[in-house]
Amino acid sequence: MSDVLSFRQTVENFISTRGWTPTRFGRTIAGDPLFVFDLREGREPRSETRARIVKAMQDYQERDTPPPLRIGVAGLGNVGATLVGIIQKDGVDLTKKLGRKIEVVAVCARSRSRDRGIDISGLDWFDDPVALAKSPNIDLFVELIGGEDGPAFAAVKAALEIGRPVVTANKALLAKHGVALARLAEDNGAQLGFEAAVAGGIPVIKTLREGLGSARIHRVYGIMNGTCNYILTRMGNEGITFAECLKDAQALGYAEADPAFDVEGYDTAHKLAILASLCFGCEIAPDKIHVEGITRISQADIKVAADLGYKIKLLGMAQRSPEGIEQGVYPTLVPRHSAIAGVDGVLNAVALHTDHVSELMLAGPGAGGPPTASSVLSDILDIARGTRVPPLGVPSAELTPYVQAPMRIHEGGFYIRLNAKDVPGALAAIATRMGSAGISLESVIQRPDLRVIDPAADGQGTRTVVLLTHATMEANVRDALAQIAGDGFIVGEPQLMRIETL
Ligand SMILES: NC(=O)c1ccc[n+]([C@@H]2O[C@H](COP(=O)([O-])OP(=O)(O)OC[C@H]3O[C@@H](n4cnc5c(N)ncnc54)[C@H](OP(=O)(O)O)[C@@H]3O)[C@@H](O)[C@H]2O)c1
Repeated sequence: MSDVLSFRQTVENFISTRGWTPTRFGRTIAGDPLFVFDLREGREPRSETRARIVKAMQDYQERDTPPPLRIGVAGLGNVGATLVGIIQKDGVDLTKKLGRKIEVVAVCARSRSRDRGIDISGLDWFDDPVALAKSPNIDLFVELIGGEDGPAFAAVKAALEIGRPVVTANKALLAKHGVALARLAEDNGAQLGFEAAVAGGIPVIKTLREGLGSARIHRVYGIMNGTCNYILTRMGNEGITFAECLKDAQALGYAEADPAFDVEGYDTAHKLAILASLCFGCEIAPDKIHVEGITRISQADIKVAADLGYKIKLLGMAQRSPEGIEQGVYPTLVPRHSAIAGVDGVLNAVALHTDHVSELMLAGPGAGGPPTASSVLSDILDIARGTRVPPLGVPSAELTPYVQAPMRIHEGGFYIRLNAKDVPGALAAIATRMGSAGISLESVIQRPDLRVIDPAADGQGTRTVVLLTHATMEANVRDALAQIAGDGFIVGEPQLMRIETL
């Protein structure tokens, strides 16, 4: 290519990458508004003119290119090491997308010598996450340690106090301190990103903060714990017990050695509390959630649900009502052909009911190194671009206090499994109590294959009975069950689940 042709190409590239007009180039760079028009018509500038303009383009570019965004990452476990690896591998592409280089310059973990499959030799090492968060050599602090207090909280707070942007994947931290941290971020002009804290790789926070920023949301529900969904899916597909599935989930790394936090529903509750705040503009209230886990789900429950056309899923659900906000985490019967029922295995999904968009469902991988790191990176890119959104969607001063609604009139019915004593009149007494509480029974199922041995039976003869109710208030069902237990006709605690029509 001749020098003139190559010069023309350079000028055209400069114009198109910036979206400039030829006149703007002429005025800003060449000193002649018609320069580009003349060039396109075949004028060949002299070599001194070309050299002057090339130099002016270079000078402009240097002034125009923002400095690299220097990142410090605390926590190099599953998510942190994956994030560092992705930024190192995709750095060139990311720079092209952003028009700005992003680079990890410093890291922190407990063990400096552990092989994490990434090269940290050229990076500054910190033993103390707080010191990293405050280091003058970083522009953005990423917290991937975990835990609601301790070093994660101290480091995030330290960064925000000096106005440094923070990205975290830590739902426990956000559930407990989210409002205070959002306020701290706003007071100090810092951004706080936590896309990865809810539903891993699914961009639900950005959807709520930006995509649906103007929508009024009535209800949010979802499958937000991959461990529970994996266990329930395998129980349904393979007819094996909760304990067997949990053992496999642990062997495959889907469940922690201590799985209680996941299977008792608390992990889902943390994520739900964060979502509810973003959906309803209220303060985060993780302690005002009715939480039930999946440890008591038996094969009998799975079988009856399937026979009736349902699957059992652990749902987190929050909705607005005139009395306030109702939040709950509970195993739920959902219609087999509903969209949420199709979300199986370790996948997560979040469904949003809004005024104008009606129902929207986002589904995808809810955990794992690469999906979670992808969400962390999405927050980093937003910060690199200078996007500014209040952390909880509205300024923290505008968040309303959380008002807990009483248990609502349930749209669907309830599933109740209980072990009735094998004595005359037991079933009739149970039905009478239900009737007196205004609960109408849709069916009573008693089959030999549904027997659930209750350790509380202690040698007493019992029959496992499943009752399905018509739509009624949850409080009524719970009252009736308490009275039935008081009558002495049942053994052990009944299994109660909502049936959602969705
Ligand atoms: N894993 C997922 O799929 C997933 C999904 C969504 C959200 N998250 C969230 O992401 C965060 C990180 O999860 P993870 O699975 O990557 O955890 P992880 O594998 O346990 O890694 C934790 C990291 O933190 C480091 N660390 C712990 N205590 C420290 C301290 N006092 N000072 C400095 N470093 C410390 C550990 O250092 P050593 O390696 O030296 O021990 C480790 O590198 C958590 O908040 C989690 O809830 C994870």
